[in-house]
Amino acid sequence: MTDSLIPILPSVQTFLARAQKLLIGGEWLPAASGETFATLNPATGQPLTRCAAGDKADVDRAVAAARAAFSAWAALMPAQRERLLHRFADLMEAHKEELAQLETLDNGKPFNVAFNVEINVAIGQMRFYAGLPTKITGETYPVSSPGFLVYTRREPVGVCGAITPWNYSLVMATQKIGPALAAGNTLVLKPAEQTPLTAIRLAELALEAGIPPGVFNVVTGFGETAGAALTAHYDVDKVAFTGSTEVGKAIARSAAGNLKHVSLELGGKSPLIIFDDADVAAASEAALWAIFANSGQNCVAGSRLFVQATVYDQVLAALAEKARALKVGSGLDRSVQLGPLISQVQLERVMGYVGQGAAQGAALVTGGERLGGDLAGGYFLQPTIFADVRDEMKIAAEEIFGPVLSVLSFESEDEVIRRANATRFGLAAGVWTNHLGRAHRMAAALKAGVVWINTYDWFDPSVPFGGMGESGYGRELGADVMDMYTELKSVWVKIE
Ligand code: NAI
Ligand code: MG
Repeated sequence: MTDSLIPILPSVQTFLARAQKLLIGGEWLPAASGETFATLNPATGQPLTRCAAGDKADVDRAVAAARAAFSAWAALMPAQRERLLHRFADLMEAHKEELAQLETLDNGKPFNVAFNVEINVAIGQMRFYAGLPTKITGETYPVSSPGFLVYTRREPVGVCGAITPWNYSLVMATQKIGPALAAGNTLVLKPAEQTPLTAIRLAELALEAGIPPGVFNVVTGFGETAGAALTAHYDVDKVAFTGSTEVGKAIARSAAGNLKHVSLELGGKSPLIIFDDADVAAASEAALWAIFANSGQNCVAGSRLFVQATVYDQVLAALAEKARALKVGSGLDRSVQLGPLISQVQLERVMGYVGQGAAQGAALVTGGERLGGDLAGGYFLQPTIFADVRDEMKIAAEEIFGPVLSVLSFESEDEVIRRANATRFGLAAGVWTNHLGRAHRMAAALKAGVVWINTYDWFDPSVPFGGMGESGYGRELGADVMDMYTELKSVWVKIE
């Protein structure tokens, strides 16, 4: 196995040796407590390096630094903010291979995917938001009282906090850093403890790009300490969070202290629906990647596959064959399609669901086993498909966040709408049909923040993304998100 692994860049090796630091007010500092924690390579279970375990004292320092930097950053000419953010994006581009290697080492995902997809998406987001500072406008109002000029101004909210998960550590960060900084806010980022490395490297690049000290701060550390301190902080004006529904609810509660703005992008149990009038071969291929991309650790994973009874056997057979052929292994092997799960904890959580599926009477079609041999040290699980799944089974109701697909059969359009919507989540949905009217009926009827028709899992920086119900509130991406990073101020002027 080791023969075919991509060699680690010297720049990545030297970075790993200096990763144990927080960026606060432009200075690289150890945690105030002096504590550190190891970040692991999930393909081997071995530590990659140690990072600073920031906690409340460090968050306090970082928020103070962000507050101190705020007025000057907000007052910078919009065109100057654009230049700095574009330079930041340029540096990300120049260090693409390094960022992709860090993502693969820390998260486990295939290098090809990190390099060709994730890093490009992150750079695209930075560029999109880099272009926005000169386009933040207010309006004038035709009030029905004589002698007034009334207009609105969009002003930055102040100090923002961002808390990111481990599944797409880079894009979850850039989709918060971009709009926060573009609007003239300053930011403290707390990356997931499983994948802190790309955030630290991003912070180095931001400084190198000339983004002033204190505008972008990074505090690595754990959720219950550093994360909780950031969301409860009275001098933080907005928090953007992506992660579990449980933690999202805790954040909404702790943010109530100073009524800071909150946007939450949480879990999902997204339905993907295949009608018998669809291109069934293309739909089966899409369903495969809808669940297995990123080893199922994807908030929009198409984890409930509803297949119309007339084509159920055909789709299931195609999927099972494709799933068995997927190559699972180290992300540093270019031929690998699926990497490991993020951690032992996540592996056990997912295996627990596999056990529940079997216990509750679902039919295990393929997978379900941890991989051994060369891969025994890592957290590798076979792509897993359950058939004959019923809506009330745990595997059909709860977010698994692993490579486990539930396949369910349905008869009619009305029935599948009702069953697809019978969930506390509402993040994403997919529909495969060649019937034009049905496609649009379904798009309107499904409870989800995004609906993909005859495709799945597409994103663009210009298109808003977010959920309904317990998938959270607020949106990320798109130009409209600037509303969430600015305050709207109305100005009344008596001119006569
Ligand atoms: P998590 O929600 O605990 O972690 C996400 C982020 O929140 C991390 O940065 C973590 O340090 C931080 N955090 C944790 N507790 C916090 C607190 N009390 N206050 C502030 N920040 C806190 O997710 P975890 O434990 O890594 O994964 C558990 C499950 O969550 C997964 O199995 C999956 O179902 C779901 N999840 C969903 C994600 C999504 O993209 N929607 C991403 C990650 C996890
Ligand atoms: Mg790691």
